[in-house]
Amino acid sequence: MSEQLKKAQQNLLSWYEKFGRKELPWRNTDDVYHIYVSEIMLQQTQVKRVKEEYYPQFLEKFPSLQSLANAKEEEVLAAWSGLGYYSRARNLHATAKLCPVTLPTTLDELQKLPGIGLYTASAICSFAYYQKVGVVDTNIARVIKRFFALLDVKDVHVYKKADAFVNPIFPTPHNQALMDLGALVCLPNNPKCSECPLHFTCQGAVAPELYTQKQKKAYESLELYYGIWVQDGRIALKQSDTRMYKGLLELPSVEPIEENFITAFKHSYTKYKLTVNLYWIEQLEESVFWLSLDEAQSSHISSLTKKALKCI
Ligand code: ADE
Ligand code: SF4
Repeated sequence: MSEQLKKAQQNLLSWYEKFGRKELPWRNTDDVYHIYVSEIMLQQTQVKRVKEEYYPQFLEKFPSLQSLANAKEEEVLAAWSGLGYYSRARNLHATAKLCPVTLPTTLDELQKLPGIGLYTASAICSFAYYQKVGVVDTNIARVIKRFFALLDVKDVHVYKKADAFVNPIFPTPHNQALMDLGALVCLPNNPKCSECPLHFTCQGAVAPELYTQKQKKAYESLELYYGIWVQDGRIALKQSDTRMYKGLLELPSVEPIEENFITAFKHSYTKYKLTVNLYWIEQLEESVFWLSLDEAQSSHISSLTKKALKCI
């Protein structure tokens, strides 16, 4: 490793000591299960929401892999309710059943488990097992591409560079520092190069925008029609048969009939901009579960269903 790179590693660590988000709960544990849960939650959810609304509650409910393995899928989905991307919760549950004692300790073995790809496997190896391995999430990828001036390269090349750049003595805080640098300084637009500990040796600092491809969010609009069927203070819910909400309870889908219209609201979910239309109904072919509104609100339902239930 060149002297320049060593200096960059040192500057990065000093910066982390001063400005890093060292208080994040999953950085103050070496419990591999806790770190695994945090990484799965953080994949598509902001740090603040994970930290405040979901991570502590989930671990309180399922304090170990064994307790998660013993849980029913509905309970796991209920603890995930509102987080979206519910396959994450189903995979977490499946992995706990396969490894109820502890998780494997190598990149290869970890990647054989449901829902664990290269990113999650390397995050676990770095953050829980202190291994000398590069970790590349979107933030780190941006820093690495800029720092090494990598234009139009494949992911595997970014991984190789990240791997080679890992500090051999302090690999774990090195990766945490890169993650924070990407989140706080090396921003997608207008990176704060003058405040950056890598500035003196960053090859991309002259034109950092070259290394960020604009990712257009391709939204899709969709109209949904749900039936509200109430009897004796209970509402009819059914098991979802959609891929997105598999395993969750939801309102039954209906054909819209004008005179039964109740209300409509907007909802965003993943790449969809949804318009949700609600209609009174009085019968159904499908089998349904009857829940009181309170029971329904605390069961394994999506944010969309939660909102719909609040409308009535
Ligand atoms: N995003 C994904 N993993 C993270 C971590 N360990 N700390 C902060 N943000 C993250
Ligand atoms: Fe990013 Fe600028 Fe730091 Fe380079 S100098 S890593 S472009 S913030």
